[in-house]
Amino acid sequence: MAKKELDVLLKEERVFEPPEDLVERSNIKQWMDEQGIADYDELLEKAEDREWYWGEVAKELDWFKPWDKVLDDSDAPFFKWFVNGKINITYNAVDRHMKTWHKNKVAYIWEGEPGDIKKLTYRDLYIEVNKFANALKSLGIKKGDRVGIYLPMVLELPIAMLACAKIGAIHSVVFSGFSAKSLRDRMNDCEAKLVITCDGFYRRGKIVASKESADEALKDAPSVKNVVVVRRTGEDVDMHNDRDIYWDELVEGESTHADAEEMDSEDILYILYTSGTTGRPKGIVHVQGGYAVGIYNTLKNVFDLKKEDIWWCAADVGWVTGHSYIVYAPLIAGVTSFMYEGAPAYPHGDRWWEMVEKHGITVLYTAPTAIRAHMRLGDEWPKKHNLSSLRLLGSVGEPINPEAWIWYHKLIGNEKCQIMDTWWQTETGNFMISPLPITPLKPGSATRPLPGITADIFNEDGESLINKGGHLVITAPWPAMLRTLYKDDERYKEVYWSRFPGVYLAGDVARKDSEGYFWIQGRSDDVVNISGHRLGTMEVESALVSHPAVAEAAAVGIPHEIKGEAIKVYVVLKKDQTPSAELKDELRIWVGKEIGPIARPDELGFVEDLPKTRSGKIMRRVIKAKAKGEPVGDVSTLSNPEAVDGLDNAE
Ligand code: PRX
Repeated sequence: MAKKELDVLLKEERVFEPPEDLVERSNIKQWMDEQGIADYDELLEKAEDREWYWGEVAKELDWFKPWDKVLDDSDAPFFKWFVNGKINITYNAVDRHMKTWHKNKVAYIWEGEPGDIKKLTYRDLYIEVNKFANALKSLGIKKGDRVGIYLPMVLELPIAMLACAKIGAIHSVVFSGFSAKSLRDRMNDCEAKLVITCDGFYRRGKIVASKESADEALKDAPSVKNVVVVRRTGEDVDMHNDRDIYWDELVEGESTHADAEEMDSEDILYILYTSGTTGRPKGIVHVQGGYAVGIYNTLKNVFDLKKEDIWWCAADVGWVTGHSYIVYAPLIAGVTSFMYEGAPAYPHGDRWWEMVEKHGITVLYTAPTAIRAHMRLGDEWPKKHNLSSLRLLGSVGEPINPEAWIWYHKLIGNEKCQIMDTWWQTETGNFMISPLPITPLKPGSATRPLPGITADIFNEDGESLINKGGHLVITAPWPAMLRTLYKDDERYKEVYWSRFPGVYLAGDVARKDSEGYFWIQGRSDDVVNISGHRLGTMEVESALVSHPAVAEAAAVGIPHEIKGEAIKVYVVLKKDQTPSAELKDELRIWVGKEIGPIARPDELGFVEDLPKTRSGKIMRRVIKAKAKGEPVGDVSTLSNPEAVDGLDNAE
């Protein structure tokens, strides 16, 4: 790569103006023309009247009954959107397409890791969702009941989610890479009545035994009465007679018709657990109405999807990106999505590019970590393929570094695709800070807040900052926002709304430049971002101290070339234990087993002691600085300053 080009990007000097034909044909430009809005600035300004903007765009969905009021903020921060509106998100995602030619359009093209391909039209999807919705009812699942879904990237995953939403049951999807313990904790927290899993799935040519993990988890999850098992691999698994049933046997003979439950806009759609700063994950609550409006509007505007597009959001449905932009939004928009079961670059480095060419993908949305991993494999892999079907690219999950940006733009986008860097969170439900097709890009910046969204950078005193790093905040509510943390209103208020009253604290550090472009720098709390996935360092520490040899542990994030961040841990062993290479491996594997493979620490060192304050609190700031090789700053408040040097000798 040309060093000069990189230097220019590093200095944030290069602006990529959107190509004229992209602007002219874009959904957002068309909408602006209809509204008589002349340009980008006017759009953002006009949409500052949030109730007008969101009320206007919400009309594009089908409502059983319209809302009385767009926003009720009388009980902040418990905001209500589309008050008294009645809607069903699955009706919007599936049923309404039955009235048009869309019913015969492909909703999903799916490719399994071994290379098997399936296609589902909207009508096929309608039938499968209805059958499974009826099957759920036959198992006694009713509106408001919680259903756990522990499935990999198979088509039954969106089908199960849509079926739950159709009958008003609340789904809680647990990423298939999470451990039995993670599944158990989540199922117990939401008191799921039913869990849907599979016999296993393919990952790097091996079979991952989901049913075994589910069985292990459910040994101690008393609320779960039934388990539905999807046959993916056909391997024999243990079936508990009175509890387990295969999906195909369950849906056999079920009616292909099911009415969508009329849901209140504010009824819960799903709970998705995400990491916070304590050892206990937070159950993010999203609702049917505002969420549907927000995700649909942002997908349509940012990725500009049209009837002829083939959209590939290469995330896992187990994370919010998949919930919003593989399942609900593309279906509401009537788009064809591509879904891939397996590992990237498996069995060869061009697996992704082969699929882009084969299926004619037009818009690809992925994470910088995947781009960096492909970059490292070498340019020859994408060069083997004709990627000219691509017209737009996207990035999410972490800041995209200039090297990865240039590679993605050149090698994948052939220098003709704008890159939509979308900043958002599990909590926000939809893209928040992101370019539109009309936005000039500055590589590395997620650009400006979307219409109807207002963000800012605050210093410690809540004053707005320009060109200085500070707290990223969202200054007004938006429809797809989380409504609370499941069963924990107090923690919701405390985590997001207490630092600056009336303002949502994102937990990120960022900077806003003089043109209003946002540059995300990373997390401000004890959360690490590994390959675009969030993990609380406390979760890793709790996993470690549950091992019989460990007395204390401190986990911190350190920079990693591919993953963005990796975990480094310092461990104090119990008095009777001796450090050894074997124990080190055992502990790393232990964390992977307790939480899931993404949490396995890259580095682990044994120390005699951890730096602590006089009140006995571990000084994370000092440990973080040491792990990254940065100056440790003031250590005068430490009760054991010698422990700081001890960190250098961790073995
Ligand atoms: O730190 C930000 C980072 O990911 C966090 C949200 O993580 P999660 O809820 O797991 O959702 C990930 C996918 C939406 C944010 O607080 N993040 C997300 N997108 C970006 C980002 N950092 C920089 N640039 C982004 N585009």
